[in-house]
Amino acid sequence: MDGNGRWARERGKERVYGHFEGVESVRAVMEAAVEWGIPYVSFFAFSEENWGRPEAEVITLMELMGRAMLAEVDNFMQHDVRFLVLGNRSRLSDALNADIDSVMGRTAGNKGLTMILFLSYSGQWDILQAAEKMAHDLFDNPGHAVRPEDLSRHLVTAGIPDPDLLIRTSGEQRISNYLLWQMAYTEFVFTETLWPDFRKESFRQALEEYASRDRRFGKIK
Ligand code: IPE
Ligand code: MG
Repeated sequence: MDGNGRWARERGKERVYGHFEGVESVRAVMEAAVEWGIPYVSFFAFSEENWGRPEAEVITLMELMGRAMLAEVDNFMQHDVRFLVLGNRSRLSDALNADIDSVMGRTAGNKGLTMILFLSYSGQWDILQAAEKMAHDLFDNPGHAVRPEDLSRHLVTAGIPDPDLLIRTSGEQRISNYLLWQMAYTEFVFTETLWPDFRKESFRQALEEYASRDRRFGKIK
């Protein structure tokens, strides 16, 4: 999700106003995903690097996140949505972690769409923490031939399928330390649309573009 700040600035407003409006886009995308039967939708909400933003913006974003997830619990239950937060949760406040635990706990048994909010996440952090765990495994089992699955198993995304499609908004064309390992064969769709303007129609267009791609996974068809 990118372009909230620019969206607000274009309207002569504070950056946070763009974040508030961005929550409405998350809602719109989720609504469409439920309607279209998409099994997993992930949102890169806050990176490890985003901690370097001005403190006031970080605090507002964190408060917004807690408030927004609590406000959606009833919707999640109604639409059978399982809600997950993945990332370096040790950096989040106790209050936010308590809200996350509460929403994750309540929706844990839901069997429909899984919504993942990546919070305080970076791909390199994930690979490092997984590599550390894998190193412990190797210490217990020396000489074991290491396979990609041995690392995948320790990523915070363990058990979740790799993404088929990445959508990046606001005209930026880079991966910005998102799911580096998991996106080995992900299709990328870039759009100029700023995140607060990214609603159902933009989502549909991105899925249509994805549907037209020929995925070969390095093989020949
Ligand atoms: C994306 O919007 C949201 C977060 C990273 C939380 P930005 O805040 O990056 O908006 P721009 O890129 O400055 O417009
Ligand atoms: Mg940005």
